[in-house]
Amino acid sequence: MATTTMPQVGLGLWKIAKQDCAQTVYDAIKAGYRHLDSACDYGNEIEVGQGIAKAIADGLCSREDLWITSKLWNTYHAPEHVQLALEKTLKDLGVEYLDLYLIHFPIAQAYVPIEERYPPEWFFDPEAENPSMKLAQVPLHKTWAAMEELVDNSLVKNIGICNYNSALMHDLMTYARIKPYALQIESHPYNTQERLIAMAKAYDVEVTAFSPLGALSYLELDMAGADESVLTQPAVVAAAERLGKTPAQVVLRWNVQRGCSIIPKSTKLERLKENIAIFDFALNDEEMTAISALNLDKRFNDPGHFCQAAFNTLHPIYD
Ligand code: A2P
Repeated sequence: MATTTMPQVGLGLWKIAKQDCAQTVYDAIKAGYRHLDSACDYGNEIEVGQGIAKAIADGLCSREDLWITSKLWNTYHAPEHVQLALEKTLKDLGVEYLDLYLIHFPIAQAYVPIEERYPPEWFFDPEAENPSMKLAQVPLHKTWAAMEELVDNSLVKNIGICNYNSALMHDLMTYARIKPYALQIESHPYNTQERLIAMAKAYDVEVTAFSPLGALSYLELDMAGADESVLTQPAVVAAAERLGKTPAQVVLRWNVQRGCSIIPKSTKLERLKENIAIFDFALNDEEMTAISALNLDKRFNDPGHFCQAAFNTLHPIYD
């Protein structure tokens, strides 16, 4: 059946290694996933496309049954680059249109030519990496206008934003000719983002929570401590025991029950199945409140961890 609105559970493709990617996408579609959350920056769109192509060839689904999201990377914000970046993504994914194309970060970047890079003696830290990126002078409204043209040209069905804060989203709403369909942000019980989500809802913008299982993937990246797993929190464990579900299902259910879509990543078939089997039970009000109360405003995908290094910027992009 054709998918015309974003399914509430999608497969997050960030961090899936190239060699696992086609099989994981295929397994997910076979397990019932119809929403794939991709990005040029994840470096695996060719393999995602292979998984999609095999699933369609084997008759598991048609292209129209899938909701495919991808994202414009920071270095392609200039209006003349936006369609070229989208065309590369379409070619890599082997599809003719996207259901949703998002601005990945509200940060326009450009490569610094070798001859313009700072001399190492300018750095306080002699071990610091010489930045190869700088901020580019592209206002977000120009990038958005180029995104709107993609809709006009029927290359994408919807456009949206990622990692925007409330001020940037409000600003966008003042000039958008085509409104954003969705806002994608990090959100889990340690980072409930209630104000930003309330604002998105007021603007009738869907919210997709990335890293909905909290710190798990960041443990692998050493971006979180081993004691930080949300799955061992007593409020989560108690609800899981009452319902006969896993802690992961409880945490994912909490997010969909408050109206967000989620894009958990897993390369394991059993977990793929587990993560989508969250529509035959409900948390009660006390459980919802207890899980929401775990909020620490804790962001794992944190500028303190990687923005300076990866983006060569210290500017705060989050609320
Ligand atoms: P794996 O791919 O080995 O299953 P997030 O989307 O929050 O970044 O979480 C992704 C992380 O959570 C990955 O490390 C993934 O590992 C793991 N994961 C995914 N589903 C589950 C689950 N149902 N139970 C426990 N861990 C999970």
